[in-house]
Amino acid sequence: MPIKIGVFTSGGDAPGMNACIRAVVRAGIANGYEVFGIYDGYRGLLADQIVKMDRHSVSDILNRGGTILGTARLPEFKDEAVRIKAVDILNRHGINALVGIGGDGTYKGLAGLSKLGVNTIGLPGTIDNDIASTDYTIGFDTALNTIVECVDKLRDTSSSHQRCSVIEVMGNHCGDLAAYAGISSGAELVITPENPITKDQVIKYLRAQKDLGKRHAIVIISEKVTDVFEFASEIESRCGFETRAEVLGHMQRGGSPTARDRILATRMGVYAVNLISQGITSSCVGLIKDRLTYTSIDESMELPRHSSMEFIEDSQLVS
Ligand code: F6P
Repeated sequence: MPIKIGVFTSGGDAPGMNACIRAVVRAGIANGYEVFGIYDGYRGLLADQIVKMDRHSVSDILNRGGTILGTARLPEFKDEAVRIKAVDILNRHGINALVGIGGDGTYKGLAGLSKLGVNTIGLPGTIDNDIASTDYTIGFDTALNTIVECVDKLRDTSSSHQRCSVIEVMGNHCGDLAAYAGISSGAELVITPENPITKDQVIKYLRAQKDLGKRHAIVIISEKVTDVFEFASEIESRCGFETRAEVLGHMQRGGSPTARDRILATRMGVYAVNLISQGITSSCVGLIKDRLTYTSIDESMELPRHSSMEFIEDSQLVS
């Protein structure tokens, strides 16, 4: 049976998704397969927004942020009746291999489709770096570099005004963006979901820093840990450090992917097509200890995630 691949992006967009789409399309065509782009994630699949791609459909996108296919979150995809409808649409197009680029929500959808007999491959596209079956996700490096650029700028003004900056970064229950950004920018403190530091400990530490004559302090904190605006007021009232809170927000998800993300996305996209050629599906691609590898999607979702604590501990002595 001729191979027909469908490719889509889903969940939060991540820089490098386009590079990954390009790799899947071009590697698929180079192998003699037909490749179809599915727009707007699972929502677009259900709406039959499916278009045949050629080499030129993915020209000039390697360096572009976002995703040319669009993306969406669709909680209803948890419902088996909804997934059965999706399978029907795939069958009507003759699509017999499905490549989804996204985070854990995307993987859950792919696992559900696999159980209905669809040949699926997951590629880790999320800035959060919260997929256990890979050391790095596509988009993490770019988001990290964006954060570091912002923190460097905030440090300039913080230091000029002798202030403390509390900077909230994304990560969705994963502290990697905060931990890596903390090391890269020499933050005084990093607070993540995995780092059980209390507000009192933070305040005690910052007060001691202030007493030692420190002109500024940078505190990087993962989203969903606390309300950073209230926390900034508390730091100001209890430490004597004039304090500002910044939520970096969605700007962390945008921008042209770094070379590292482009390379990761391209390698993973080509590898996904190679897996399909070998008849290996219901799997997701990872980079572990610098080698491309695959894991069953079900297993990937069960694996314990690495903890960013190690990184935080490494950095403590030099801040
Ligand atoms: O999963 C990527 C991510 O950017 C998380 O870091 C964040 O919690 C979430 O998406 C934000 O989602 P939305 O764009 O739907 O507000």
